[in-house]
Amino acid sequence: MLSKRVLSLLVLGTISTVCASAAPLRERIDFNAGWRFQKGDPAGVVADELAYPKIKDWLLASANAFTLTPSPAPATPLTTTAACAQPDFDDAAWRKLDLPHDWGIEGPFKMEHPGHTGKLPWWGVGWYRKQFDLPVGDASAGSRLYLDVDGAMSYASVWCNGRFAGGWPYGYSSFRVDLTPHLRPGARNTIAIRLDNPPDSSRWYPGGGVYRNVWLVKTPAVHVGHWGTQISTPEVTAEAATVKIVTTVANNGDSPVSVHVRSRLYRLVETADGATVREPVAEDSRPAAADLVSAIEPGRSAALAQTIPVANPRLWSLASPHRYIAVTRVFQGDVVLDEYETPFGIRHIEFTPDRGFRLNGERVTLQGVCMHHDLGALGAAFNLRAAERQLEILKEMGVNAVRLTHNPSAPEVLDLCDRMGLLAVAESFDCWIWGKTPNDYGRLFADWSERDLRALLRRDRNHPSLIMWSLGNEIVKVEAPENAEIARRLVAIAHEEDPTRGATAGLNNTPVGFNGHQHIYDVFGFNYRSMFYQKFREANPGIPVYGSETASTVSSRGEYFFPVTPDRNGGMSNFQMSSYDLYAPRWAWPPDQEFAWLDDTPATLGEFVWTGFDYLGEPTPYTEDWSNLMNISDPEQLEALKKELLAMKEQQAPSRSSYFGIVDLAGFKKDRFYLYQARWRPELPMAHILPHWSWPERVGQVTPVHVYTSGDEAELFLNGVSQGRKKRGPRDYRLRWDEVVYEPGELRVVAYREGRSWAESTRRTTGPAAALRLDPDRAELRGDGLDLSFVTASVVDADGLVVPRASSPITFEIVEGPAEVLATDNGDATSHVPFQSAVRPAYNGLALAIVRPRAGQGGTIRLRASSPGLEPAELTLKSVAPSARP
Ligand code: GAL
Repeated sequence: MLSKRVLSLLVLGTISTVCASAAPLRERIDFNAGWRFQKGDPAGVVADELAYPKIKDWLLASANAFTLTPSPAPATPLTTTAACAQPDFDDAAWRKLDLPHDWGIEGPFKMEHPGHTGKLPWWGVGWYRKQFDLPVGDASAGSRLYLDVDGAMSYASVWCNGRFAGGWPYGYSSFRVDLTPHLRPGARNTIAIRLDNPPDSSRWYPGGGVYRNVWLVKTPAVHVGHWGTQISTPEVTAEAATVKIVTTVANNGDSPVSVHVRSRLYRLVETADGATVREPVAEDSRPAAADLVSAIEPGRSAALAQTIPVANPRLWSLASPHRYIAVTRVFQGDVVLDEYETPFGIRHIEFTPDRGFRLNGERVTLQGVCMHHDLGALGAAFNLRAAERQLEILKEMGVNAVRLTHNPSAPEVLDLCDRMGLLAVAESFDCWIWGKTPNDYGRLFADWSERDLRALLRRDRNHPSLIMWSLGNEIVKVEAPENAEIARRLVAIAHEEDPTRGATAGLNNTPVGFNGHQHIYDVFGFNYRSMFYQKFREANPGIPVYGSETASTVSSRGEYFFPVTPDRNGGMSNFQMSSYDLYAPRWAWPPDQEFAWLDDTPATLGEFVWTGFDYLGEPTPYTEDWSNLMNISDPEQLEALKKELLAMKEQQAPSRSSYFGIVDLAGFKKDRFYLYQARWRPELPMAHILPHWSWPERVGQVTPVHVYTSGDEAELFLNGVSQGRKKRGPRDYRLRWDEVVYEPGELRVVAYREGRSWAESTRRTTGPAAALRLDPDRAELRGDGLDLSFVTASVVDADGLVVPRASSPITFEIVEGPAEVLATDNGDATSHVPFQSAVRPAYNGLALAIVRPRAGQGGTIRLRASSPGLEPAELTLKSVAPSARP
C-alpha cells in the first residue's frame, strides 16, 4: 500500500479501480497537491547542461513505446549537476503551490512583451519538486509506479531521487514516466521536474509550467498498458451493437506469463441528484482457453481482442449522449491480475461527400467553433469547471462541435464533450518540418511527430465525441513534395492506431484541393477557402469537405464605431473592433458570407468558426506578428498587410488577447453570439438588437440598427414609431435598418416567422450608473478547492438596466466564508490589469469575478462588489465540502 500521506490524495479518477478484494489492484492518485516551485535554474548548474540538444537522446529513448523505429538508449545514464534534482536539496525557500500551475498568467503584462503571445512572461526555465513517502515493500513484487503528466509546458525532464526518469518536449502531449527503477521503498522519495520553455515558440499564448493534472499510477507487474484499451463499435443498429475491445497487456514481471482478458460492460446512468451509477449490460463469458495468450515474456506486451454483443444499445447522440464503461480484467488462470476501466460510447459515424456527416445514420451539420486551450483569466492552468462553462455557453449558442486547435487538448475536455453531447476534432500540430516561429514544433517534428501523434491517438481514441483526427493546421508549404510524404505518413499512423475516424487537416492552400494532395485525407478541411466548396465538390465528388476554419470576424464586446463602414477590413478604433460583425482581417470574412457559401453548397459538412471564445494572444488586427502574412497569397493583399504590420509596430498596440471570439475572454457574449444562435438554433424564438441605445452624442445622427433573429421577418420601432418591416431574403442572415436616426428612448423589434409573431426584444437608453448587480453562474458549489463560481458584476442605472459604456472600477471582496476571488476579468483585450487583481474596471458595463471555495470547508460565502459613487452589491454563495454531502 502507498503511504497514508499519498493515499489521502486519492480521488475518484476515471481509471481508479477497486476490485473485489480489499486492496485495489491498481490506483490512480491525484498528485497535484504540495509541490515546490522555482523559476529559473538554481545557481551552480552547468550552463546548458540540460538544454534539449544535450538530453534529446535520453528523452527519445524514454518515449520508444510510441514509435515503430525505437531510438537506441544511450549507454550511460543522464546525469545533472543541478542540486535541486537531488533528494537532499533544501527547497524550503521555494514557493509552495498545487498543480495545475501556469507561471505565465501571473504576469505582469508588459508592453514590450509580444502581443501575439499575450504580453505575458510564459517562457524560461522552471523547476517543480515534490516529496512523498513510500513504505517498504511497495515497489516490490514487480508492481509499477508511474507518474502521468497530462501536460507540462515544455521540454520536461523528470528526475526521481536525482536520477533521470523520462520526460517529453511537446508541451501539449500527455506522457507517462516510469518511476519504479528509481524508487526508494521505505524512504522519502523526491520527484523534480525541469521545464524549459523556449521564447518565440508559439503564435498564441501557450502558458508555462505543469499546467495540467498529474497522477501517480500504481499497477501490478502484469497490467493493462498505458492507454492500453481500444474500443470500437463496428456494428450499430437500434436493436444490436457489437463492442470490440483490444487490450494491450504488459508484463513487467520477471517471468513469462500466460493471460486471458474478460470485460464487463456497464451503462452509465445519471441519477436525479447528479450521481453516476452503473447498470450491467453485457459481458464476455467465453472460457479462458478461447483467447489465452501464452508466455508473454518479461518486458513484452500482447494485444488481446474481445467482441461483445449488446442488445438494445442506447446510442450516444447529441441529444442523448449515453455513455458506457468497460471493466476489463486480466486473468492468469483464475487469478485477477489487473482491472482497468474504459469509458466509451456506442455510436456510428460516417462522412459522405454528398449527404454530409452522419451520426447514427442521421445527418448532423457541423455547427462548430475552434477553441484554443487557455481559460482566459486562469491562463493555461487547467480547471474542469472553467472548461465546462465554456462548453455550456457554446452549447447555448447552438454549437454542436469543437475543433481543439492546434494541439492536443487537456484529456478532460473530451470527457466533457462525451458527457455534454458535443462532437470534437482533435488536432496534433500547427506545423510540420517548417515552423511558423523560430522555436516552435518545427524543431521537434522530425524526431517526435510519430511519438506525439501515437500518444494523442492512443489517449483519445475511445471517446464517442471524437469524430476526426486533424493532423496539421495550415502547414507551411503544404504543397511541397516533402509535405505530401509527411501527410501520407501521418494519415497512415492515424489509420493504424484508429481506423474508425476521419483523418483530416486544416488547409488554407487552394491548389492542394485540386492537385492530387486532397486524396491523402479522408475528409478535406478548408481554412478560409469557403468560396471553393462548390469547385472542390465538382472536382472531387468522392471527398467530403468542410470548413475547418471560417469567419475570423473580429469584434470587441459593446464597441460600435461610426459611420458604419462597409469596408470588410475596417471597423478599427482605439485598439478595439466595432461590434457590427462586419469586419475581418484580409484573409477572413463576416459570418454572413460564410453562411451564404455553406448554403450554396449544402453537401459541405459544416464549419468551425475561428473562434468560440477570445483567447490570450493573437490580437489581430492589433498585432505585429509576421506569421500573419502566411495567411495570404494575393500579392496586393500581402503588400497591404505588410504595411499594416509595420504601422502596428510603430503604434505599440497594448492588445494582449484576441478579438476573434464570439464570446469574449471573460465569457460574456458578444453580439455575434446571437447571429450564430439565430442560425444554429432555428427553433428557439429569439431576436437581438444592436447597437446599445445610449448615445447622447449622436442625437440626430444616422445610427444603423441590425437585428439577429430566428424569425424570417421583423418590424423595428423607435419610441413607438415603425422604422419599417423587413423580410429576410434568400441569403440574408441579419435584418438591417441602416438609416435610423438616433434619438434617446426605446428601440423595440417584433420578429415574425411565417407571418406569426415569433419573438420580441427591446433596447432602452439608460440613465447614469447608479448601482452594481452580481449574478453567479452557479450559487451552490463543491468546496473541493477546484470548483468555481463565475460571477458577473453589472453596472446598472436606477431602473436596473446595464449601463453599456460604464467603466467603473469594481472592488471584489469575500466578506464572509471559506473562499477567495481567484481572478477577475472584463473582456477588454487591451487591459494590463493583472488577472489576479481584486479591483477590475467594468468594460462596457460588465466585469467578472471568479470565486473559488476553499478545499474541505463548507459554508456560506458572501461576495461584495463596490465602486465609488455606486450602490454596492452583495451575493451569497454556498459551498458544500465533499465529505459533508449526503
Ligand atoms: C488561421 C490560423 C489560426 C489563426 C487564424 C486567425 O490562419 O489557422 O491559428 O491564426 O488564422 O484568423
